[in-house]
Amino acid sequence: MVFSHILIEWYERNKRDLPWRHTSDPYKIWVSEVILQQTRVAQGLEYYLNFTETFPTVYSLAEADIDRVLKVWQGLGYYTRARNMHATAKYIVDNLGGVFPSSYSGLIQLKGIGDYTASAIAAFAFREPVAAVDGNVYRIFARVFGVETPIDTSKGKAELKAIASSMLDVERPHIYNQAIMDFGGTLCMPKNPRCYECPVLEMCSAFRNRTVDDLPVKSKKVKQTIRYFTYIIPENRGKTFISKRSKSDIWHSLYEFPLVESERQLTIEELVKDESWLSLFGDTMPEIVHVSSPAKYVLSHQKIFAQFVVVKVATVSPVLEQAYSQINFDEIHEYSTPRLIEGYLAAEPVEKYFKRNV
Ligand code: ADE
Repeated sequence: MVFSHILIEWYERNKRDLPWRHTSDPYKIWVSEVILQQTRVAQGLEYYLNFTETFPTVYSLAEADIDRVLKVWQGLGYYTRARNMHATAKYIVDNLGGVFPSSYSGLIQLKGIGDYTASAIAAFAFREPVAAVDGNVYRIFARVFGVETPIDTSKGKAELKAIASSMLDVERPHIYNQAIMDFGGTLCMPKNPRCYECPVLEMCSAFRNRTVDDLPVKSKKVKQTIRYFTYIIPENRGKTFISKRSKSDIWHSLYEFPLVESERQLTIEELVKDESWLSLFGDTMPEIVHVSSPAKYVLSHQKIFAQFVVVKVATVSPVLEQAYSQINFDEIHEYSTPRLIEGYLAAEPVEKYFKRNV
């Protein structure tokens, strides 16, 4: 039997019952694939259900406020995905009469829809015979065919994409592509793959040659940046201050407390002499009432050491007044904030500093 038939047979016996497999609505398939690009199924599932319940059609997404979309996305990371989806939903409604393009070549023109997503939507919604090729698929075929060309080079990608396309079941692209997703997600995983349950073990070059753990090859090591954040949580008459992050490095458009970023972890003595602190408070002399212990927060290319400092502010400085929005402390939960902040607020009873007369 050929690879695709064995894979589909395995899939029919082992498939996960996932909601996006019961629809041929390109909008819902798009949402699922964008969520699943950088998120595991277990976590993505809840977001998918919530997202499609909040925005059940491309029209409802197009009409929604971007802040609302980011709020529903909160915690998933890679927020550019949500912003692109919102922009593309608007484009589809305004320019295409709310109808998704029904082919790979039409879908790939849309902002935020790359080769993988266009292929996935074309295959799942329209049964177009195209192979959806993501990191899972590179890994699987690098192993099965013993490809040693690094998968983070254009040569490696082209080589594996050609292999993947040649392996497609052109009669059943919608089933084959789901099958290979499940195969990559549950058996042929990056670490500790379950080779002894593998239905294509006999075809696998890497298994024969004991190179499963060495494949796929990557040429570059991802460079990690280390950053130090001190978030200041100001309290003034039961209110606090936040702003919408406009820097495009991370967390664009999410809300955060005033931030002091530094080259290394600041002590409180250093913090109160820092230029950002001085510009934030001028000579208004806030009272420091709580300092959290530093916590490490890991993103794909960055490690952030963060600490939170709660301060009571008697007089609101002009910078705080003008550059930040003043909100009731408990309203913070209505804004989309980075998970770092959300996690801190969930773990620390910061609200006690916001009760009046305390
Ligand atoms: N990962 C990416 N797309 C997927 C899908 N359709 N099903 C399961 N996992 C996936």
